[in-house]
Amino acid sequence: MARINAVITGVAGYVPDYILNNEELSRMVDTNDEWITTRTGIKERRILTEEGLGTSYMARKAAKLLLKKTEVDPDTIGAILVATTTPDYVHPSTASIVLGKLGLKNAFAFDISAACCGFMYALDVACKMIQSGVYKRIIVIGADKMSAITDYRDRATCPLFGDGAGAVLVEGTTEENIGLVDSYHRTDGKGLPFLHIKAGGSVCPSSRFTVDHRLHYTYQEGRTVFRYAVTAMGDDCDVLLKRNNLTKDDIAHVVCHQANLRIIEAVSKRLGIPMEKVLVNIQHYGNTSAACMPLVLWDFESQFKKGDNILFTAFGAGFVNGALLYKWAYDGKTAADKK
Ligand code: UT7
Repeated sequence: MARINAVITGVAGYVPDYILNNEELSRMVDTNDEWITTRTGIKERRILTEEGLGTSYMARKAAKLLLKKTEVDPDTIGAILVATTTPDYVHPSTASIVLGKLGLKNAFAFDISAACCGFMYALDVACKMIQSGVYKRIIVIGADKMSAITDYRDRATCPLFGDGAGAVLVEGTTEENIGLVDSYHRTDGKGLPFLHIKAGGSVCPSSRFTVDHRLHYTYQEGRTVFRYAVTAMGDDCDVLLKRNNLTKDDIAHVVCHQANLRIIEAVSKRLGIPMEKVLVNIQHYGNTSAACMPLVLWDFESQFKKGDNILFTAFGAGFVNGALLYKWAYDGKTAADKK
């Protein structure tokens, strides 16, 4: 039997309308546009301001656009994987809510929790499910409402994060030399002290004390995370290049987690892959955690050509890290016309 390759056949995204720019942020906390721009590359981020709306709302918007764009029959979707670190509820899963709202009849759904690596891990899992031959079509979503876990009194973290969602459709094909090529993922497991939310989980459930002490927001030791991120992403990409006998010249695009422009530039330098090949939209959205990578795909889809080697790499709380090598399966312009 012919081998089944897993390919992305469509990309869509959603970002909320509200734009929180550096100037407005400077009026909320002791910071300024110059510091944020030079230290992070971020100029503005989107915020989901409507009360009562969570991550599933953005995920659903992205998935709906994806179904419209790809024109596939929703009843042929076998699974929805939602990568998120800001689920609507502790349970049920955000993926189950998205599935329900989309009215899918033949699918099952589950969340993947791997912070900023979530989408890349979920994409890998979905590709392997497709390669198994059991599933025909899977929607993979990366979505996060980071504003829900960001302390807007903490200038060290609040400029970094934004809200958004991106979705891709993964399908099987017997065509050779396209789709997922290889992946290399690692979890260090020593990241807890440096990047976490103290309360709201089973170790420290919510209480008046946790709310009074603002323990439901992201805490980050920025410099430590920065160092780990650059080393891990650079090393992971190197492993994949070597293992697949590729050089930096074989890579058409790098899709890097959008945490900090300086981190992205450092990874580019480490790999010797020029910034022209590294896709960046952090200036508009900030760090949307699991949504970063699919939002990059959404923004740059029209530039991709069939056969392009794309190197994904991400790093996040845990510490989790990894890289994924993927050969793009269609001429981006054709798909963009369908929008
Ligand atoms: O996606 C999950 C993974 N996360 C990441 O990859 C993030 C990794 N870390 C980073 O991106 C960077 O470490 C930050 C952007 C978080 C911080 O940049 P930094 O260059 O590491 O700054 P720093 O924390 O070392 O702070 C430098 C100075 C400090 O002042 P002093 O001690 O030198 O006087 C801070 O108090 O900048 C000060 N500072 C600010 N000043 C103005 C910190 N935040 C701000 C601010 N505005 N918002």
